[in-house]
Amino acid sequence: MITINADSLKQLPSRKRATLLNNVCGLRSANLIGTRGVSTTNLAIFNSVIHLGSDPALIGVVFRPLTVERHTYDNIKEFKAFTINAVNQSIISKAHQTSAKFPENRSEFEAVGLTAQYREESHLPFVAESPIQLLCHFSKEHLLENGCVLVTATIESIYIQESALDDDMFVNHQLANSVAIGGLDAYYSVALEGRYAYATVDETPKLL
Ligand SMILES: Cc1cc2nc3c(=O)[nH]c(=O)nc-3n(C[C@H](O)[C@H](O)[C@H](O)COP(=O)(O)O)c2cc1C
Repeated sequence: MITINADSLKQLPSRKRATLLNNVCGLRSANLIGTRGVSTTNLAIFNSVIHLGSDPALIGVVFRPLTVERHTYDNIKEFKAFTINAVNQSIISKAHQTSAKFPENRSEFEAVGLTAQYREESHLPFVAESPIQLLCHFSKEHLLENGCVLVTATIESIYIQESALDDDMFVNHQLANSVAIGGLDAYYSVALEGRYAYATVDETPKLL
C-alpha cells in the first residue's frame, strides 16, 4: 500500500492533489443539469448530484465557489427550477463538452448537439437523449466551509425509460446504460453485480 499523509498531500503539485482527491472517494453519478437563462437555455455536467431523502424527495447539488460566473447556479436562483438528466454511454463526449466555459448567451444544447425537450408542465429543457430525467424545484442553499454551495431541491417529476425500471421501482442503471464519473475526466460504464436482501445480524448475505 502507498501511504499519503496530510503533509505529503500538501507537497503534491495542485493538479495532482486535485486529481487524487477528486477520485479517491470513489465514482460519482454523471448528470446534465438543464436550466433556462434570461437569454437562452443552459446545460452543464455535474458529478455532485446526491440523494438526500425520499420523503420529501430531496436531492443536493454542490456548486464550486461563486467567484466566477456560474450560469447553472444563477439560473436556478432566478427561475427556482431545473432538470437533471442522466448521462448514458451514447452521449458521454457531448455531455463532457458542456463543461467548457460557453458565454451566457450561447446554449450548450446547440453547441454540443444535444436535443432540448420540453414537457407540458414546464418551460425547462430536458435532454431528450437521456434515459432518466428529473424535474426539480429549488429548496435552499447552504454555504460550505470551503466556499462551495450545496443547493437542495425537491424532485417534482421523474421520467424514465420503461426498460430501466423494474416492477419494484428499482432503477437499473446497467439497462439505462448510465455512466459513472471518476474525478472530472474519467467515465466508467456500470455493470450490476447483484442486489442483496436487507441485511440482518444473524443471517448470511442473500442475493435477491
Ligand atoms: C465531469 C465533470 C463534473 C463536474 N461537476 C461539477 C459539479 O459537481 N459542480 C460544479 O460546480 N461544477 C462541476 N463541473 C464543472 C462545470 O461543468 C463547469 O463549470 C460548467 O462550465 C458550468 O457551466 P455553467 O456556468 O453553464 O453552469 C464539472 C465538470 C466536469 C467535466
